[in-house]
Amino acid sequence: MFKCNPNIRRIGILTGGGDCPGLNAVIRAVAKDAMACGVEVMGIEDGFQGLIEDRMRVLQYDDVSNILTMGGTILGTSNKANPSRVPVGKDAAGNWIFKDLTDVCMTHLEIHRIDALVVIAGDGTMSCAAPFVRRGVPCFGVPKTIDNDLWGSDLTFGFLTAVQIATDALDRVHTTAASHHRVMVVEVMGRNAGWIALHSGVAAGADIILIPEINFDIDAVCRVCLQRSRKGKRFTIICIAEGARPVGGKAVIERLDPTSPDPIRLGGIGRVIAAQIETKTPLEARYVVLGHVQRGGTPVAADRVLATMFGDYAMELLLTGKKNRMVAYQGGNYTDVALIEAAGKQRLVPLDHPLLAAARSV
Ligand code: F6P
Repeated sequence: MFKCNPNIRRIGILTGGGDCPGLNAVIRAVAKDAMACGVEVMGIEDGFQGLIEDRMRVLQYDDVSNILTMGGTILGTSNKANPSRVPVGKDAAGNWIFKDLTDVCMTHLEIHRIDALVVIAGDGTMSCAAPFVRRGVPCFGVPKTIDNDLWGSDLTFGFLTAVQIATDALDRVHTTAASHHRVMVVEVMGRNAGWIALHSGVAAGADIILIPEINFDIDAVCRVCLQRSRKGKRFTIICIAEGARPVGGKAVIERLDPTSPDPIRLGGIGRVIAAQIETKTPLEARYVVLGHVQRGGTPVAADRVLATMFGDYAMELLLTGKKNRMVAYQGGNYTDVALIEAAGKQRLVPLDHPLLAAARSV
């Protein structure tokens, strides 16, 4: 156990961005460590939205006990709320008007005498902490996202659970594809990063893995399906990341939300390539979009461990007087990076990643 910092009496904690398995494990670790040092924890509801609207409550031991294995977040979350750009209405032309409400949030932090903030977030929401860092509020980031695309950490919690869910789905699709002699396209999440597709595709032995970092050629995809068919393998499993795009083409956008820090929601490429395969070959194709199933439910053991270590490490930084750091996992070690540096930056699959080479070989 680390030494407690007498200057820290009360901290705020929030979960921002898309939910992912392991959020509650971090909340539990942070709150239990804090309570052991006599530090009070204010749970801020629905990410930064709760800070804007002054919705927060003191967490008691019972609030954070027995939540380790629970999916989602007991605090609620929002992937839209950004205090420095809050949508407050529309102008005559129908465009959103945004207002900076950082001062309002600062008042709420002062009213509740919050000495530091723990922000459990992905790249978009992590950058919402920057104005508070600039105003002198000590902030501590904990990297979460199923996409595993946060700069500064080799691993974000939630990712390994999403990979397991996608792998299970690919395994199940395998047997139905083989029975019907079909091409089955499974679209997984990941935004602009192919981590989920690459890991689950390799784990499930997908025949074709398409990721955003490498533009695909639909004719080459069709050729592989036909070659397999000629060799007697009368089915093909394609694992495609939602952000994958064809050479010279664009990613398929499912919807746009101008009020969100990241307004683009990807989705639909699986349907597009299944249709193209049916047009360009005599093969039958079906597609499955896994969607939010990948974010739900209980975290796998490795994510529970990672989330607990991250929460505990964030509290060690906070209680030993460090400021404005994001905990990270690099090269098998727990470490920390400057929060401002990590915020808003993406970590894509490098083209020389060993798993890419292995995937190609097998
Ligand atoms: O960042 C996590 C994630 O699940 C992405 O993989 C996906 O593109 C996006 O969030 C979906 O966002 P929403 O929950 O707003 O549909």
